[in-house]
Amino acid sequence: MAKPKSKAKRQLGYDEAQRAARYITTQAGFRPGARPRVGIILGSGLGAVARSLEGAKQIPYRRIPHFPRSTVVGHAGELHLGRWSGVPVAILAGRMHLYEGYTAAEVVFPTRVLALLGVETLIVTCAAGGIAPQAAPGSFLILADHINMQGQNPLAGAHDARWGARFIDMSQAYDPALRRAARNTAAALRLKCSEGVYASLLGPSFETPAEIRALRRCGADAVGMSTVPEVIAARQAGVRVLGIATITNRAAGLSRQPLSHEEVLEMGKTTSENLIRFLDTLLPKL
Ligand code: HPA
Repeated sequence: MAKPKSKAKRQLGYDEAQRAARYITTQAGFRPGARPRVGIILGSGLGAVARSLEGAKQIPYRRIPHFPRSTVVGHAGELHLGRWSGVPVAILAGRMHLYEGYTAAEVVFPTRVLALLGVETLIVTCAAGGIAPQAAPGSFLILADHINMQGQNPLAGAHDARWGARFIDMSQAYDPALRRAARNTAAALRLKCSEGVYASLLGPSFETPAEIRALRRCGADAVGMSTVPEVIAARQAGVRVLGIATITNRAAGLSRQPLSHEEVLEMGKTTSENLIRFLDTLLPKL
């Protein structure tokens, strides 16, 4: 009997990330001073944000060596390189999630490639359900901290010291100065905004009302299915992190409406405009 073909496990290590970064560098032909300083990861339904880039170069993920491809509706799968308010940025429009079946190494691969490209600051955005009373749909939540309930960590497994230390400090994962700049920007623009703790679950089913009550007691203000792996990988690489959740709905059991991905995408589109205004003002301050 023929043996089933064994599928070699795809290695996504430092060498693969270097290859991807080299490809992007060649494609972009960065002029002096044009290497991206700031990276932005766009959450569900926030794809419109990438259109704010001046002189942007777009590279589909499928062209970049070793890049995983997003399989979720609402995530385009393109890298955008250009200037925003004068600042050279790289935008990942389309992220990978653990719930799609990707390994943690695959989920954080694009983040690590951005670090190799020279990104010093990463702005991670995501859609989230609001748990705290102030986390109302349509508002922003600046991440002050997170609770990792995904049961996985991108640093688990063989350690490659080229990425950084194995045991990294997470006591100030979200940069205090960036959080202050984000708070001030939101206040100046009169955007509805709070600051709090983001709990990340594996998904893709939404939470039960009992899970949300438990999360509230654990100190979570918002809940989602992403962000945490990328933040851990960025911190290991020494990249400063700002996390912004756009609250697309009240979490399960806190409103009468059943939850749906369509609702998340719709609200994402609405909040995109506010996120663009927010980043217009914030980026030159970074
Ligand atoms: N739960 C988990 N993830 C989410 C939610 C939610 O309520 N809203 C947007 N992403």
